[in-house]
Amino acid sequence: MAVTFELIKRCPATGARAGRLYTPHGVFDTPIFMPVGTQATVKAMSPHELAVMGAGIILSNTYHLFLRPGHDLVAEAGGLHTFMQWDRGILTDSGGFQVFSLGPLRKISEEGVAFRSHIDGSKQFLSPEKATEVQMALGADIIMAFDECMPYPADHAYAKASTDRTTRWAERCLKTHNRKDQALFGIVQGGMHRDLRAMSARDLVSMGFPGYGIGGLSVGEPKPLMYEMLEETVPLLPADKPRYLMGVGTPDCLVEGVMRGVDMFDCVFPTRVARNGTVMTSRGRLVLKNAEYARDFRPIDPDCGCYTCSNFSRAYIRHLLKAEEIFGLRLTTTHNLHFLIQFMRDMRKAIIDDSFLSFREEFWSKYPTP
Ligand code: GUN
Ligand code: ZN
Repeated sequence: MAVTFELIKRCPATGARAGRLYTPHGVFDTPIFMPVGTQATVKAMSPHELAVMGAGIILSNTYHLFLRPGHDLVAEAGGLHTFMQWDRGILTDSGGFQVFSLGPLRKISEEGVAFRSHIDGSKQFLSPEKATEVQMALGADIIMAFDECMPYPADHAYAKASTDRTTRWAERCLKTHNRKDQALFGIVQGGMHRDLRAMSARDLVSMGFPGYGIGGLSVGEPKPLMYEMLEETVPLLPADKPRYLMGVGTPDCLVEGVMRGVDMFDCVFPTRVARNGTVMTSRGRLVLKNAEYARDFRPIDPDCGCYTCSNFSRAYIRHLLKAEEIFGLRLTTTHNLHFLIQFMRDMRKAIIDDSFLSFREEFWSKYPTP
């Protein structure tokens, strides 16, 4: 088996779990946050820097690598791990989400999705078979089924038709996939409809995937609705398989997701906002370009042990950002990723120590209500 999951501890009071993911590129503790490296690089970070901050698995994107440089080229280089010189875990998303973000540039049929490249406008096509073949060529440890991440809101009729199609596509991905050293995860959809979430979870579970993505969330819905959908979905997934909430990565959603039984998360948020000068702390976000930090010689977060916080002040980083120095983005990205990785480690420790609920209480006592 390419990827196996070991459930180590369950929180007696909530759905939270601590586990361990075994992959051909290492063993990783869950719950885990996966930094996003869309184009075979986590923007502004070297693989060595990621390893030093304790990143275990990173996420990369089929859509982008298929268009540029092409999966054949990556395969020729020896696969994604060798190409980008990252020897820990990689998960590739199927392209389903990116293609659907293209809006009017794409057309869905039973066969797949026709779209125009955002790079050169060329006509392209991704199907469940193609997305699976591309991901087999890239060679990530975990790959995702090709799905439709439907728009929000979607009425019941559209959501039903879309979810059923995603389920048929998942069957086709499963039929195409034949790499034993790689795990293919199904993706639960269902829009914001409880019955369709349950239907999607049951249908996918009956196919026996080694892990399950929970997709179609954090698409503009209110957070309580996302939590409600998780509560509908997660209990239907097998306890001995990893659950991955796709595209979610703010501290509040991480705590609430873990409490509801999610093991894996990814999000561009920490790296994207870092390049804008926004940093995350246990007391909420700081916008470092603001004038109030001009003479603030404290670290971003006095409780953070990252390279940035161990060495540099808010005032210095603000100066770099204002002067548009590249090092400024590297320092903020380093902090945000370290912050989330450490946050997940702390949550895992609390689960193991039977103190998850007090961890959550303490978190909410400091963190501003979203
Ligand atoms: N990333 C965030 N949400 C989704 C989703 O619904 N599907 C896929 N494939 N990727 C996602
Ligand atoms: Zn820091």
